Amino acid sequence: MSQAFTVATSDTPVKFAYWVPNVSGGLVISKIEQRTRWDIDYNRKLAQIAEQNGFEYALSQIRFTAGYGAEYQHESVAFSHALLAATERLRVIAAVLPGPWHPAVLAKQIATIDQLTEGRIAVNIVSGWFKSEFHAIGEPWLEHDERYRRSEEFIRAIRGIWTQDNFTFLGDFYRFHDYSLKPKPLQSPHPEIFQGGSSRAARDMAARVSDWYFTNGNTVEGIKAQVDDIRDKAAQHGRTVKIGVNAFVIARDTEAEAREVLDEIIAKADPEAVKAFGHEVQQAGKASPEGEGNWAHSTFEDLVQYNDGFKTGLIGTPEQIAERIVALKSVGVDLVLTGFLHFQEEVEYFGKRVIPLVRQLEAGTLDRAVA
Ligand SMILES: Cc1cc2nc3c(=O)[nH]c(=O)nc-3n(C[C@H](O)[C@H](O)[C@H](O)COP(=O)(O)O)c2cc1C
Repeated sequence: MSQAFTVATSDTPVKFAYWVPNVSGGLVISKIEQRTRWDIDYNRKLAQIAEQNGFEYALSQIRFTAGYGAEYQHESVAFSHALLAATERLRVIAAVLPGPWHPAVLAKQIATIDQLTEGRIAVNIVSGWFKSEFHAIGEPWLEHDERYRRSEEFIRAIRGIWTQDNFTFLGDFYRFHDYSLKPKPLQSPHPEIFQGGSSRAARDMAARVSDWYFTNGNTVEGIKAQVDDIRDKAAQHGRTVKIGVNAFVIARDTEAEAREVLDEIIAKADPEAVKAFGHEVQQAGKASPEGEGNWAHSTFEDLVQYNDGFKTGLIGTPEQIAERIVALKSVGVDLVLTGFLHFQEEVEYFGKRVIPLVRQLEAGTLDRAVA
C-alpha cells in the first residue's frame, strides 16, 4: 500500500464507534443477505460485544418515517437508554432532531439518563434532511441554513440548561427565563454534544458550539479539507472541535474477498429505493446556499450506503484498513464511526483483528512494511 501520508500526529488513540442498527434494513440499501437485526435483543448483545472489543461509543439513529427502506425505526433516546442499561462502559450517543424535540425536554431527558447510567450518555444533534418526514409529522420545514441556525440555538440552550442555574436565553427559536434544571447531568461540564452534517453551515456551527463534528464518509483528502476549515474557524472562537468520520467497513482475510462483498452489495442494490433516497437528500447540502455538503456529489454507488461510507475506503484486509485509519488520524480524525453488513460478527472481527493493528501503528511498534 502506498505511504502518501505522514504517521499519526496525535498521541490520543483514535476512538471507535459503531452505528446502532435501531432501524430495519441494515446500513446498505441492498437486497444482499444481511444478518443484522434491529430489535433490542440483537442490539443488547451487539453493544456488549462492542464494549468487549475496543469500541468506546455507539451512535443511535433518529427517523420518524422512511421513504427508502428502513421501514421500522425505534426511537433513539429510549433505545440508547436500553443499551446503556445493558452495558458497563460503552458510551451511547442518542440522535435528536430540533423541531420534534424542544431543548427543555431533551435537556431533562438526558440529565435523567445520565444520572441513571453513571454518566455515559451523549447526544448527536442532527439538523434534518428528510422533508417528507417532517411533512408526515406536521413539523414545519425550514430552509437549509435556517435549520442550522435553529440547531445552534438548540445546542446553546441545552448547554446553558446543563451548566447554569437561573438560565435565561432569548433566541429566535427558543426562550428560557430564569430556569434552573435539577438535577443537572452527572457528567461535568455536561454530556458530550455531537452534530452531523458537512455543509458550510454545519462546519460553522461545529466551530462555534459543538464538541464533536460528525461527517459522512469521504477520502482522506476530503476529510482533511473539512478538518482544516473547522480547526481554523474554531480557533477564531478560541475552541477546539473533535472530528468523527463515517466508514462502512468490509474487513476480510483477503482484499479479494472484501472487494467481492462490496461488488455484491452494489450489484444487489435496490435501484428504486436508492433513487428515492437520492431524491430526498437533495434537501441536504445541495440545497444549501453554496450547494456543498452531505450527498452533494454522491453517485448511485455511494448512496447505496446512506452516509457515503464506501468512500472512506475501509475495505480490504485488517492491515490495509488499519493503515487507512492511521492515515485518517494523521489529518485530524479523532473517531471512526463504523457500519457493517453483519454487525455482531463483524464488530467482533474488527475489534480482534483491526483495532490491535491500529494500536501498534499508533505506538510505532508495527513494522509498517507489514501493513
Ligand atoms: C454521522 C451522522 C449521523 C447522522 N444521523 C442522523 C440521524 O440519525 N437522523 C437524521 O435525520 N439525520 C442524521 N444525519 C444527517 C445530518 O444531520 C444532516 O441533516 C445531513 O448530514 C445533511 O447535512 P448538510 O446539509 O449540512 O451536509 C446524520 C449525519 C451524520 C454525518
